[in-house]
Amino acid sequence: MVVPESQEKMYYPPVELQRNAHVPDFNSYLVMYKKSLENPEAFWREVADEFFWKKPATGPMLQHNFDMTKGNIFVNCMEGAKTNMCYNVLDRHVKEGKLGEKVAYYWEGNSPDHHMTITYRQLLSHVCRCANVLKQMGVKRGDRVSIYLPMIPELIVTMLACARIGAVHSIVFAGFSSESLCERIMDAQSSVLVTADGVYRGEKLINLKQISDEALEKCREKGSSGVTTCLVIKHQAQRTRTGTSCNKLQTPWESERDVWWDEVMRDSPDECEPEWMDAEDPLFILYTSGSTGKPKGVVHTVAGYLLYTSLTFRYVFDHHPDDVYWCTADIGWITGHSYITYGPLANGATSVLFEGLPVHPHVGRFWEIIEKYKVTKFYTAPTAIRLLMKYGQEPLRKYDLSSLRILGTVGEPINPEAWRWYHEVVGQGRCPVVDTFWQTETGGHVLTPLPAATPLKPGSATFPFFGVEPAILNEHGEELEGVTEGYLVFRKPWPGIMRTIYKNQELFENTYFRKFPGFYVTGDGCRRDKDGYYWITGRIDDMLNVSGHLMSTAEVEAALMLHQSVSEAAVVSRPHKVKGECLYCFVTLKDSKEFNCKLVEDLKRLVREKIGPIATPDFIQNAPALPKTRSGKIMRRILRQIARNEKDLGDLSTLADPKVVEVLFNQRSEAA
Ligand code: WTA
Repeated sequence: MVVPESQEKMYYPPVELQRNAHVPDFNSYLVMYKKSLENPEAFWREVADEFFWKKPATGPMLQHNFDMTKGNIFVNCMEGAKTNMCYNVLDRHVKEGKLGEKVAYYWEGNSPDHHMTITYRQLLSHVCRCANVLKQMGVKRGDRVSIYLPMIPELIVTMLACARIGAVHSIVFAGFSSESLCERIMDAQSSVLVTADGVYRGEKLINLKQISDEALEKCREKGSSGVTTCLVIKHQAQRTRTGTSCNKLQTPWESERDVWWDEVMRDSPDECEPEWMDAEDPLFILYTSGSTGKPKGVVHTVAGYLLYTSLTFRYVFDHHPDDVYWCTADIGWITGHSYITYGPLANGATSVLFEGLPVHPHVGRFWEIIEKYKVTKFYTAPTAIRLLMKYGQEPLRKYDLSSLRILGTVGEPINPEAWRWYHEVVGQGRCPVVDTFWQTETGGHVLTPLPAATPLKPGSATFPFFGVEPAILNEHGEELEGVTEGYLVFRKPWPGIMRTIYKNQELFENTYFRKFPGFYVTGDGCRRDKDGYYWITGRIDDMLNVSGHLMSTAEVEAALMLHQSVSEAAVVSRPHKVKGECLYCFVTLKDSKEFNCKLVEDLKRLVREKIGPIATPDFIQNAPALPKTRSGKIMRRILRQIARNEKDLGDLSTLADPKVVEVLFNQRSEAA
């Protein structure tokens, strides 16, 4: 790795940030990175030392096999150690760290009228009561608990209660359908489901209990009656509108199975001895979509995940005790698990927990919340940034954003346009943007800048985090050096990497380790530039091969988005007689912009100018909206099928709004 030298504009860390930072300059990063690879044992032991271990490890910090030809794939962290996640993220702060009265979360509801503050001591008390409730329901160490909740404090209480008694939580994003919920409950074989009566998402009321009932009914039809108890939280929005005894929703009820949260929590004791878990016991299962369509239950374990989420949170957001941190993700996704719950709590941080939408009840909601809580570190997704960009600078001007110090993004490659807007308009040119690349499977950030250390290039996730050793391979598994592009893989584990796919070790090995023995395969393409910076080019299946040239959809999309009329773009391939594949582009225009021949010609020229004639799009189609998953990822598989006019779209259950697809098919003929 070389110290960056480049012709393109680099963004250097602000000196004020460097003064007090954990990793204050690029050289410190290099020294620590080297140490983390040369002596992982010492590096991770030091990290482990600040946590509580009921029993110390008898084995090394990390052991592994990544080579299928040599036996089973495994990763083992701190063999022999006993600990408890919940104790480390709560009791340790309250009892040892004197942080009992510190705010753990400022909860901000869908409606600005709903908010509350929860201290570490209060959180611990709620968690213990919930842990006793779960025990009372017969949940034991190792049992799975499915959780289908909106972004309310009880979601965090329930996940930590599971961790306290050694139960394995399986959180299902509360935007998933009953079918998806059923599938995940059945796979995890949960005995308890925790849900809420309902939730407002913007103006829309969603009857979660009814969806839960449908899911449990489907489980029953499929021959599983595993869930014996359904614990139901009355959402605050329901209480304040209609009182506690009757609520606006007609909550369907099965008295044999359903229990109101309030009723059982009221009398539950607020002390509960933590269950002392083995380092490698599972902490949670989180489902992620698989290429075959069936979701994979990614398993993370106690000790390694604690070390890794804690350390990445501290360094990547340069955490300090007086920070107010806000991650806008939903806890239903890995970003919420690692960087709303576990990472921040392990550091004794104060976070904002936000239930609502960026544009409800007005398009300045994010900025209003930043001002209200004086947020210092803000972490969101490129899709949210692009959405808010559409409304221009006006909504931001009304609020004081001067508390912000560091901005972060995650989830997809960020186009340099959006990066610059984030940096200049939101961060007022003052805040480094940490573009964090990682996956459900990696547990925490793996390629990421450190805000006070890494000179930034818009669109690059820059360099590996401590302990992470990336490599770029070609199709034949040969390692490529220097400036290059190919498959992004990792040579070694770090403590927070997934351990297996729940009940399917074989699928785990085949998915991540078969293609290139000895490496964990991310499934992402990656480029390394002359300064050693890593640039994620998108999923390998999003790679395009036009006339023998490999190019990434992200690259073409970034070019299209440079046009002032375009708010979002998605590019897929379509078979082409001469070129092999050609580019088919979907563009969403900003309000009041018109799709016409002149625009199409302008866009083609723009891409040609930015990337080269080889990248000239063959088709550009108007897309009033793009098909997205509920977490906001563009579903390129569907776009590819629209581009190819393939009507049989298969499973659309992960799509946020299925109507979008029909509209795109109807407008297809106008593509030019
Ligand atoms: C993509 C989300 C580019 C990538 C934490 C990865 C990114 C997938 C970035 C994992 C980033 C995530 N730049 N691409 N900073 N972050 N991705 O499991 O394709 O929901 O493989 O985890 O998102 O998505 P997942």
